Amino acid sequence: MWDYTDKVKEHFLHPKNAGAMEDADAVGEVGSLACGDALKLYLKVDENERIVEASFQTFGCASAIASSSALTELIKGKTLEEAKAISNKDIADFLGGLPRQKMHCSVMGREALDAAIDNYKGISRPKEELEGEILCHCFGVTEEKIRQAIMENNLTTVEDVTSFTKAGGGCGECLEDIGELLDKVRAEMKKRPPVEKQPAGLSNVQRMQLVMKTLEDEIRPSLKQDGGNIELVDIIAKKVLVRLQGTCSHCPASKATLKGFVEAKLREQVEPDIQVEEVVS
Ligand code: FES
Repeated sequence: MWDYTDKVKEHFLHPKNAGAMEDADAVGEVGSLACGDALKLYLKVDENERIVEASFQTFGCASAIASSSALTELIKGKTLEEAKAISNKDIADFLGGLPRQKMHCSVMGREALDAAIDNYKGISRPKEELEGEILCHCFGVTEEKIRQAIMENNLTTVEDVTSFTKAGGGCGECLEDIGELLDKVRAEMKKRPPVEKQPAGLSNVQRMQLVMKTLEDEIRPSLKQDGGNIELVDIIAKKVLVRLQGTCSHCPASKATLKGFVEAKLREQVEPDIQVEEVVS
């Protein structure tokens, strides 16, 4: 029996935005019934490329349904660009965590989102052409999908790869190949300079200035479009304390906004290991 959080149970028993959408502007479909999990994500997108409605149909276990429900809640109201920043970890975090062996459900959500955005932009995704060879034939998992899961989630073992992608969880014939790919990707990750855009050794003043500029130029304008805002409360070492305001302060997706958008933007523009925390008062 899996140890699910209350939030997973809530989204499984009472999923939000379940069902097909007749007039969807974009549809993303991933997984297959043969593999045991399949997700079809529907998006309604306005003229500013903002997702105004999202719904899903999922065939799968409790965590697959909860992850799909969480995904739709996270992306509603976001622009396609903002939604693209949502990682499988954000989906799992929104649910208060998923059992490690069920993390592949959050990965499936993230893939459905990518597929739907590609569909909206008119990009057709022949799997092998875009993602390389299929490495696990039991579950149709490509090398690129495994590579991405390793890098995004810092996976270190073959068991991790199976938990996050399902690859290797069937006949087991691909396990050796997964091990080789894991070693290769981890070696590449070690060689990579930790941060390409990082200005070396920021002083506190430089960090403060860059944070304020990024908030002003890149973050507030997006939040304001939805009637929200953000206040900088303090910066302690690399921890940025902020207060969400307006509609953001009571939005169910505020955590995802904070991590998936605000923190991601600051990591991109200021320092890669900067952290953002909300001050609630
Ligand atoms: S080919 Fe990967 S588990 Fe069978």
